[in-house]
Amino acid sequence: MDVATKTAAVPAYDPEVARDDFPILGRQVHGKPLVYLDTGASAQKPRQVLEAMTRAHTECYANVHRGAYWLSETATGRYEAARETVRAFLNAADEREIVFTANATDSINLVAHTWARSTLGPGDAILITELEHHANIVPWQMVREATGCDLRVAPITDDGALDMAAFDRLLDERVKLVAVAHCSNVLGTILPVADITARAHAVGARVLLDGSQAVVHGPVDVRAIGCDFYAFTGHKLYGPTGIGVLYGTLDLLEAMPPWKGGGDMIDSVTFEKTTYAPPPARFEAGTPPIVEAIGLAAAIDYVQAIGRETIAAHEADLLRYAMQRLASIEGVTVHGTAAHKAAVVSFSLAGAHPQDLALLLDRSGLCLRAGHHCAEPLMARLGVSGTIRASFGLYNTRADIDALIEALDRARAILM
Ligand code: ALA
Repeated sequence: MDVATKTAAVPAYDPEVARDDFPILGRQVHGKPLVYLDTGASAQKPRQVLEAMTRAHTECYANVHRGAYWLSETATGRYEAARETVRAFLNAADEREIVFTANATDSINLVAHTWARSTLGPGDAILITELEHHANIVPWQMVREATGCDLRVAPITDDGALDMAAFDRLLDERVKLVAVAHCSNVLGTILPVADITARAHAVGARVLLDGSQAVVHGPVDVRAIGCDFYAFTGHKLYGPTGIGVLYGTLDLLEAMPPWKGGGDMIDSVTFEKTTYAPPPARFEAGTPPIVEAIGLAAAIDYVQAIGRETIAAHEADLLRYAMQRLASIEGVTVHGTAAHKAAVVSFSLAGAHPQDLALLLDRSGLCLRAGHHCAEPLMARLGVSGTIRASFGLYNTRADIDALIEALDRARAILM
């Protein structure tokens, strides 16, 4: 995915039409029109998702995989149809490669608790990068504690790109897993994940990609990338909370032990011995997020109907416009200027604490996240305690950026 080069020959898109699908965008906060610039934290939901979830609750709700009656069979059908929707969305080869989890953090922890703990030991290493979200750092630190493996960190360059020369120096045959973000939640940097995967595979390492931000901003094809695992969450993709996805190649999932034990993940149980179901059921213990999976499928249908290339092109325009307008404000420093970048813009305003700035912007109806963005090591690399971040979605417009710039001007006058 490269929004910088995929802007040609896409259908005309009117975000104002899409905005009508999002009921919340019509409301006011503090007497001002809502300007939502925090899709990186969680996206707003279109009616199509809300209605699909209401229909799932009111037309065919029952537990799945457990009932011989029509209602349960219908719910099971819709839940499994959602799995097929996700498979097609990622261009995975097989539905059994799609595991429903609670969120991306849960997906990464699943791999850490199963594949990593059963595979790694002293002398092995996991390679991550300096721009990771805590969800792609802490689980590997816990694996290091449990197995005695090493954790290596590839640095970034000053513009927020991955330092590929340093990455190569850290990548040797001791590395058994490369775990990186497909797109940074702070800098917006899009990492060259197909290249990273090829280099990792050349030394025999597996590759896990945290796609939480990337799936929102453009097309993702796990087979074209060639990765072994791909994790993302539903709520950033205009879907509900409580649903995430782990893609894993079938050979790996089949060889992995289960993590959570309980109903629906077994083949047979006696007090002496339990045998486990094949994937994906092996990794979906207990009643799964049934309605949330159906909501996620509706969200995927929604973005597919607009077109992922179309959304990427629209967001590339917003990114260019935001970068250009922010550059006109004295004292603003944008963190993350890599050539391949999604519509996520972190910045600092000289003399202003990010939290104070966010509170002032809130009074103007603007929603922006401020702080360390669950990436404290990256803040240390940038030499800041935190940043303020505007992250854009398909419903944002140039007018939202104008509102941000005007509010920043007002905030500057108060804070400086
Ligand atoms: N990971 C989310 C963010 O970047 C919550 O804001």
